[in-house]
Amino acid sequence: MASTDLARPRRAAVAVVLAGAAVAVTLGVLGSVSNGPRELPAWVFSSTQSLKAWLASAVAALVVVQLVSALWMFGKLPGVGAVPRAVKIVHRVSGALAFVVSLPVAFYCLYGFGFDTATPRTLAHSLAGCLFYGAFTSKMLALRSARLPGWTVPVLGGTVLTVFVLVWALSALRWFQLTGIAL
Ligand code: HEM
Repeated sequence: MASTDLARPRRAAVAVVLAGAAVAVTLGVLGSVSNGPRELPAWVFSSTQSLKAWLASAVAALVVVQLVSALWMFGKLPGVGAVPRAVKIVHRVSGALAFVVSLPVAFYCLYGFGFDTATPRTLAHSLAGCLFYGAFTSKMLALRSARLPGWTVPVLGGTVLTVFVLVWALSALRWFQLTGIAL
């Protein structure tokens, strides 16, 4: 392979990672200039925290669907054969839904609290929240780039998933531990 052919996938990978980093940094900056805490509507829930914890948990459930359908598509699910078309559709629909449902939660976080460095947990949650949308952006771009090596999409998908589990564990899980499972 000529050196320019080798450089192309590297350039594409760098572009995809930089685009994700730009999104994550922009969210972090937005969070830093947001002067919370602010009261926001809780709709039918007892508090905004509860609303966020339930919506975040709905996203977590969709993320599990993402994982199982991705493993199936990559032939890593033991005991199942060819990939039916429905699996691809389920993966796309659950991914789009997870993204859409996460948006109001992240908006409540960014606008309601901002980037919180007060405790290691809030700092880690704020960082992971920004990183989640960065990794998601990189994954979406990687799906549309034919130049990237085959492992790029599974690695980025795994990163999105792992970071979301972290976001959820540092926020919704802790909320349910404090208050119990209630609306
Ligand atoms: C995937 C995106 C996100 C999800 C699903 C999410 C979810 C949650 C949930 C469920 C809570 C607990 C309820 C509460 O205390 O209000 C929370 C709290 C919080 N979030 Fe997020 N969040 C996301 C992104 C972000 C981002 C981007 C930031 C800031 C840059 C952020 C900052 C905070 C802060 C400061 C709190 C309060 C923590 C506390 O005092 O316990 N979150 N988030």
